Amino acid sequence: MSSEILIKTDRLILRPFDKADLASVLDYYSLPDVQRYLDWKARDSGEASAAFQSMRKQTRLMRPGDILTLAVVRKADGMVMGHVSLRWTDATAGQGELRFALGPAFRRKGYGTEAVKAIVNMAFDDYKLHRVFARSAGKNEASARLLRKLGMRLEAHYREHALFQGEWDEELHFAVLDREWARGEKVRELARHKVA
Ligand SMILES: CC(C)(COP(=O)(O)OP(=O)(O)OC[C@H]1O[C@@H](n2cnc3c(N)ncnc32)[C@H](O)[C@@H]1OP(=O)(O)O)[C@@H](O)C(=O)NCCC(=O)NCCS
Repeated sequence: MSSEILIKTDRLILRPFDKADLASVLDYYSLPDVQRYLDWKARDSGEASAAFQSMRKQTRLMRPGDILTLAVVRKADGMVMGHVSLRWTDATAGQGELRFALGPAFRRKGYGTEAVKAIVNMAFDDYKLHRVFARSAGKNEASARLLRKLGMRLEAHYREHALFQGEWDEELHFAVLDREWARGEKVRELARHKVA
């Protein structure tokens, strides 16, 4: 893949973060429902800025362990609404983990689904991964619905597997294989033609 990744969907542009995006990211980065999914905890704006600088450097997957993080930008007005990321967890077995977050003002409009679908397409088409997975809090209905809607399978439900912010945590693991994703796309494509 080229060094400048740019994905366009119907309503979105996905691209690496630019330094001008910091203020938009600070709007959602420290929220508790977002913090759960981040590698860098951000208790104040200094920590959030440091985390943002790390995300800015996540522009390509070169070796296992690397993370690609893309800003989710609304085409209509250029608003930076959130981010999606793909961590290349295993090269031999072609595994990758998804994470995603949007600012509260941009939720429930289908943008999350559109952005995650685009990065999963890239994971299979460009990076030739074999399996893509995502972890979600047990109570995170939005994330679970999004992942199921895209055809990801619930593979595990871990009960009280850890403590998070002083409470027992529940975790759901979703995944999809490359051939399942391709088959799902084909079915959706056929359905579109049938309706047209
Ligand atoms: C998860 C998240 C990205 C969803 O983004 P979004 O743009 O609101 O999602 P969509 O609009 O595409 O909605 C996806 C599905 O979830 C449903 N949904 C969205 N928010 C919901 C909520 N708060 N409660 C219940 N269902 C919800 C939608 O109705 C839709 O399902 P449907 O098509 O069957 O009706 C967003 O809520 C978020 O950033 N949450 C905090 C971070 C997070 O949880 N990340 C997950 C990491 S794995």
